Amino acid sequence: MNDNSVIINEIREIYGNRPHIAYVRSFGCQLNVSDGEKIKGLLSSMGFGFTDNENDADLIILNTCAVRESAEDRVFGIVGSMKKLKENKPSVMIGIAGCMTAQSHIAEKIKKSYPQVDFVLGTSAINGLPALLRDSLRGRGFGADIAEYDDFSAVVPQIRDSSFKASVPIMFGCNNFCTYCIVPYVRGRERSRKPEDIISEVRELVSSGYKEIMLLGQNVNSYGKDLENTMSFPQLLREINAIEGDFIVRFMSSHPKDASKELIDTIFECDKIAKHLHLPVQSGSSDVLRRMNRRYSAEDYLSIVDYIYSKDPDFSLTTDLIVGFPDETDEDFRATLDIIKRVRYDNIYSFIYSKRSGTKAAEMPDAVSDEVKSRRMRELLETQREISTEHYKRFIGRRMRVLADDVSKKKKGCITGKSSEFIIVEFEGDESLIGQFVDVEVTGSMNWAVTGRIV
Ligand code: SAM
Ligand code: SF4
Ligand code: F3S
Repeated sequence: MNDNSVIINEIREIYGNRPHIAYVRSFGCQLNVSDGEKIKGLLSSMGFGFTDNENDADLIILNTCAVRESAEDRVFGIVGSMKKLKENKPSVMIGIAGCMTAQSHIAEKIKKSYPQVDFVLGTSAINGLPALLRDSLRGRGFGADIAEYDDFSAVVPQIRDSSFKASVPIMFGCNNFCTYCIVPYVRGRERSRKPEDIISEVRELVSSGYKEIMLLGQNVNSYGKDLENTMSFPQLLREINAIEGDFIVRFMSSHPKDASKELIDTIFECDKIAKHLHLPVQSGSSDVLRRMNRRYSAEDYLSIVDYIYSKDPDFSLTTDLIVGFPDETDEDFRATLDIIKRVRYDNIYSFIYSKRSGTKAAEMPDAVSDEVKSRRMRELLETQREISTEHYKRFIGRRMRVLADDVSKKKKGCITGKSSEFIIVEFEGDESLIGQFVDVEVTGSMNWAVTGRIV
C-alpha cells in the first residue's frame, strides 16, 4: 500500500489557489480506458478539473496502447505535435502512461527524442503518479515509474466517463502468450481481484443507478485460478446475477480454450447476463492457430459454437480476427473465410497482423506481401458485410430490451442503444431516454444495426 495523501497535499500546495486542469486521453482496450478513469480519480483528489482540449490543460496524460504499431505511431504523432504546445506554455506537464511505457525501448525513445515529455508511468504504477508529478513540478527532470505496486485498492474512486455504463476489471494481466501479442509483456501475469471486492463494487454501482456492468479481463474465463479461495468465472457471474436491481452484465474477453459448457449454461440460466458472447477466434486455420499458440483448433472452436447453437441457433456471437499472420497461406485465409461463414458472427473486429518486437511471431519468417494482406482484409470485410446484412434480418419482428445510450449520429430525432445481444438498435425517441432501458420492436435491419420503434 502506498499512501499518497502527503504527496497529494504537496501538489495542492504547489498549485495553491490557481485552478489546475488536466487532459487525460486513453487509447486501446476497455481495460486501458478503465485505468484512465482511475488516473482521473487520482487527479481529482489533487484538485484537478478536466478538459477535452489539450491547449487548456496544465497537465496532459496520454494513456497509451501498444497492441499494434499503428497505435504507437499515433501516440508518437500526438506527442510530437505537443512540442510546440510545451514551447508556448512551458508550465504544462506532459506524462505518458499505459502499455507503451512498459516496453523499455519505447520508454528510452520517449526520454531521448521527446524532451517535451516530463514523465512516463507504467501500467501497474498508477499510484506512483502523484510522486512523479510532484517531482516534475519541482523541476527534477525526466521521471519514470514503471514499478509494479499491484495494489489497485489504494487508488481513489474512479471518475467514470458514463453515469449508467461502468467497466469493472476483474483481473489484470495475461498468461497466454499468444505468439503475436504484446499484452503479456506490458501487463504482466494474471492477477484476479478478490470476488468480494468485485461483488461489492458491482453492488455499489447498481445502487447508484448504473444499468450496464462490463466485467473486464484479457481472459475473463480464467478468472480466479490464481486465488487462494478460488472462485470460477461462472460462479462469479452467478453471484453478480443474484445482486438485486435492474441491470445487465457483459464481459470481455473470453478465450476459447477456457470457454466451458458451464460458462455457456450460466449465460443461458442467468437473466441479467447479456445474451451475447465475444469469442475471439483469430484464424480459421488450425495450423495458424497452432503457430499463434492459441491452444485450440478450428474444430475445438466450432464444437463450442455448436454447443451454443444447440441451445439457441440465433445466439449472438462476435469475434476478433488477425489477417496476415506470418506466412499465412491462401488456404489458411480461405479457412478463416469458411469459419466466419459457418459461425455467422454478428460482427467481427479484424486486424492486419502487426509485428511486435519481443514476441515470438516477430521472429517468424513472413513471405506474404503487404498488398496480399490488404487484399485479404478487404475480402474478409466484404464477406462479413454480406453475412451481417443477411444475419441481422433474424431480429425483424422481435422485441428487444435496449439500453439507450446516445443520440443517433446518422438519423435526426433518433436514439441508439445496445440490446442484450450487443446489437445496435436505432429508434425514434428523445434524449431523456438515454441511460434507461427501453422495449423496442425491431422493424428493419442493416448490416451494422437494426431499426425499430418503442413499444
Ligand atoms: N485477450 C483478448 C483475447 O485473447 O481475445 C484480446 C485482447 S487484444 C487487446 C485485442 C485483439 O487485438 C486480439 O484479439 C487480436 O485480434 C488483436 N491483436 C493482438 N495483437 C495483435 C497484433 N500483433 N497484430 C494485429 N492484431 C493484434
Ligand atoms: Fe494477447 Fe492472447 Fe493474452 Fe489475448 S489471450 S491478451 S491475444 S496473449
Ligand atoms: Fe492496448 Fe494495452 Fe489494451 S496494449 S489493447 S491498451 S492491454
